[in-house]
Amino acid sequence: MEIHAYEKLWLALALVLIVGFIGTITYGAAGAGIDMIDDKGGTVDPATLDDHPKFGDPGIEKTGENQYDVYVVARQFVFEPGTTQPIRVPEGSTVTFHVTAADVIHGFEVVGTNANTMAIPGQVAEFTVEFDEPGEYGLLCNEYCGSGHHVMEGKLVVMEQSEFDSWYEQQQQEGEN
Ligand code: CUA
Repeated sequence: MEIHAYEKLWLALALVLIVGFIGTITYGAAGAGIDMIDDKGGTVDPATLDDHPKFGDPGIEKTGENQYDVYVVARQFVFEPGTTQPIRVPEGSTVTFHVTAADVIHGFEVVGTNANTMAIPGQVAEFTVEFDEPGEYGLLCNEYCGSGHHVMEGKLVVMEQSEFDSWYEQQQQEGEN
C-alpha cells in the first residue's frame, strides 16, 4: 500500500497532537505535586465526633521537628478551627491535615494553593502541605452545604517561628487547665 507524502505528514502531525493532549492531561492529573486524596485517612463516626480524641477538640499538634498534624471539623457553617479562630502553623513546616465533617458534605480549600478536599461525614481526608513563608490564606467551603454555604469561610495564618512557638506553648498550657 502506498501512502502519499502529505498523507504521511498529516498522520504524523495528528499523532503528535494526540500524544501531546494525553501528555497535558497526565501532567494535569499527576504532575506538579498533585496528590489525589484517597481513603488512607480512615473513617470516624460523625455522631460521636465530640468524644473523638482528636476531632473532639480539633486543632494543631506537633508530631516532629517542623512536623504538625492539624485536625479540622467542618460543620454548618464553620471550620473548627479556621472560622472563629484561624488555623495557625509555623513557617517552614510540613503540615498533615485531617479533615472531616459533622453534618453534611462540605469543602475545605486553602485559597491560592492546591490544598483542596471534600469534607465528608464519616470519612477523614488526609493530605500534607508545606508552608514556607509567613502569610495568610483564606479557607473556603466549595461544596454547597445549605443556606449559609456562601458565608462558610475561614483563615489560615503561617506565623514566624518564634511567634508561633509562644502561641503554641500558651495553647498547650490552656489545654492542661
Ligand atoms: Cu460548608 Cu458549603
